Amino acid sequence: MLPIIRNAIPGDIDTIHEILLPYAREELILARTKDDIAQSLHAFYVAAHNSHISGVISYYDYGDRLKEVRSLAVRKSMAKSGIGSLLLKHLISELRALCPEPKIFVLTYSPVFFIKNGFVEVPRETLPEKIWKDCDHCKNRHNCGETALIFENNK
Ligand SMILES: CC(C)(COP(=O)(O)OP(=O)(O)OC[C@H]1O[C@@H](n2cnc3c(N)ncnc32)[C@H](O)[C@@H]1OP(=O)(O)O)[C@@H](O)C(=O)NCCC(=O)NCCS
Repeated sequence: MLPIIRNAIPGDIDTIHEILLPYAREELILARTKDDIAQSLHAFYVAAHNSHISGVISYYDYGDRLKEVRSLAVRKSMAKSGIGSLLLKHLISELRALCPEPKIFVLTYSPVFFIKNGFVEVPRETLPEKIWKDCDHCKNRHNCGETALIFENNK
């Protein structure tokens, strides 16, 4: 059965942290502390089967039309069953409701998943400089393997 996607609530913070942590340790996504999650909770959505949460997604709003997909993760035990795509589709429709023509981008080590969901690869330099602020703290900043993609299916 597919989960419902809903806004995160304060009671989800520990579970969101728990789902993100293994992937942050593998350096597939940025580490998020519980405080950090709490402060940006309004931007988090979860995939829930009743009380069980199987996945999470978030975004960062750079203002204007620019929105970044962040902290997308599905429990390993539930991978490849469509939950990541459901979360991403839900986020995109929420971002479109916020802003008529959002420019939605992602920096990721999983480009194939995003391409299957309507994103296209773009040269990193085409994204505005303000998005690189987090990179200053990254040990891989001089040898970054992340791919930049933007959501193209803006119909
Ligand atoms: C990326 C991730 C969220 C995908 O979630 P998921 O629920 O497994 O994805 P879906 O089941 O919706 O997959 C949709 C398609 O993408 C493919 N896919 C999923 N994860 C993939 C990956 N890491 N690499 C390549 N293809 C992937 C699936 O096989 C599926 O293809 P199909 O339609 O041809 O069968 C999940 O693998 C994950 O949590 N990865 C670790 C964290 C991460 O990399 N997050 C993204 C960075 S922002």
